[in-house]
Amino acid sequence: MVWENKLGDQLFHENMNNIAPTGIIQYYNLVIKEARGAAVTDVAGKQYIDLLGSASAANIGHNHPHLTEALKAQIDKLVSYDVGYFTNPTSIALGERLTQIAPGNSARKVSFGTSGSDANDGIIKFARAATGRSYIVSYENAYHGSTFGALTVGACDVDMVRKVGPLVPNVVHVPYPDTYRHMAGEDEHAIAQRYFAAFKRPFETYLPAEEVACVLMEPIQGDSGIIKPPAEYVHLVYDFCQANGILFAVDEINQGLGRAGKMWSIEHFDIEPDLISTGKSLATGLPLSAVIGKSDIMDALGTSAHVFTAGGNPLCAAASMATLDVIEDEHLPEKSAKDGEYAKAQFLKFMDQYEFIGDVRMYGLNGGIEIVKDRETKEPDNDAAAHIIFRAFQKGLILVKLNGNVLRFQPPLVITRDQLDQVFTIMAEVFDDFEHGRIELPDELKNMVW
Ligand SMILES: Cc1ncc(COP(=O)(O)O)c(C=O)c1O
Repeated sequence: MVWENKLGDQLFHENMNNIAPTGIIQYYNLVIKEARGAAVTDVAGKQYIDLLGSASAANIGHNHPHLTEALKAQIDKLVSYDVGYFTNPTSIALGERLTQIAPGNSARKVSFGTSGSDANDGIIKFARAATGRSYIVSYENAYHGSTFGALTVGACDVDMVRKVGPLVPNVVHVPYPDTYRHMAGEDEHAIAQRYFAAFKRPFETYLPAEEVACVLMEPIQGDSGIIKPPAEYVHLVYDFCQANGILFAVDEINQGLGRAGKMWSIEHFDIEPDLISTGKSLATGLPLSAVIGKSDIMDALGTSAHVFTAGGNPLCAAASMATLDVIEDEHLPEKSAKDGEYAKAQFLKFMDQYEFIGDVRMYGLNGGIEIVKDRETKEPDNDAAAHIIFRAFQKGLILVKLNGNVLRFQPPLVITRDQLDQVFTIMAEVFDDFEHGRIELPDELKNMVW
């Protein structure tokens, strides 16, 4: 198949002249003209089905009419005003709604920001302020964002921190349970116990528990490849936190708002967290984030310690109110769970057919498909995954990778059954092409970083 994307290539290269490399995650040169639901049209008029969902920021799909109408109505009233000084009815309504939809029954308060990254910085600040302790425990392989705090608690790519240090002090990383690449003969219980022992090791050797403010985790780790830890492990960590006065904080930025088949991914574990960070799909990709936390914790910071000119502004708040309406009215968490089961069954059929598929993880419309060199050794095959996503792109699917070798399956939750079936028809061709060595990767696409 000929590599044809002339207009996209041209615009992409113009963009590279002006945009700093750090802002470009190099895959193929797709330049988007418009999108609706799960369908995306590029500048040349070619149609795609979006399996990236704008990096899980478009759970209600692109340009949902309820969202665009709400935005237009808000624009006519008030586009923006710094809510730190003087707030407005839309932002007030959103604050109240977020306290109500957070998991658990405790009284809650909200602190707005503009990105998932700043929300995770907020978690560090609120946890330190509320406990008077400085240490934060977070997880290896996590992506939490790229402001200094978020960068420090993350640990997924050494290029993210190279040349920018020093980072935020007193952050300790512990390993995240990997239920795929485990030791021979281990069951979930054994995995949970081994990783909990690893979690406790710092506390037994150099980290006084009474100096730890919070543990921050993604209940399902997204960017490392959609990895769900054993429930027993999460409960052991939570109980340890409770016993030691350590706050338990969860990052729901990627996995929340219906993505993982429940409103919040922590609901898979039936635990009420002390602090939550949310963003991305919260306002369908418009710049809005929030820390939602128990009121006494949120009251610990004084004026201006975590406030942003555009945080919670009326336009983004209107987008968020409309987004939450759609999530509720269209029962997207339930739809995500159901369609996720359907998608999982299709991928498992492919796995029966192709040795290069090592594992299929799917929690809601939220999947990681491991591409491996060998099922026994589970050695990741980044190159094969690159070939597969490139052919998928040629055939009209927006599909990228996680952690080098894992296919990232995160379509908008409104994707139709018909579109899903088209996806699996195309993926059948793509996998067949790969199996028979029919995919050639253009030179310029050989340096995909993620
Ligand atoms: C789990 C998680 N946390 C935080 C972030 C950072 O969010 P943002 O890019 O809005 O700063 C991301 C973004 O990919 C994420 O996946």
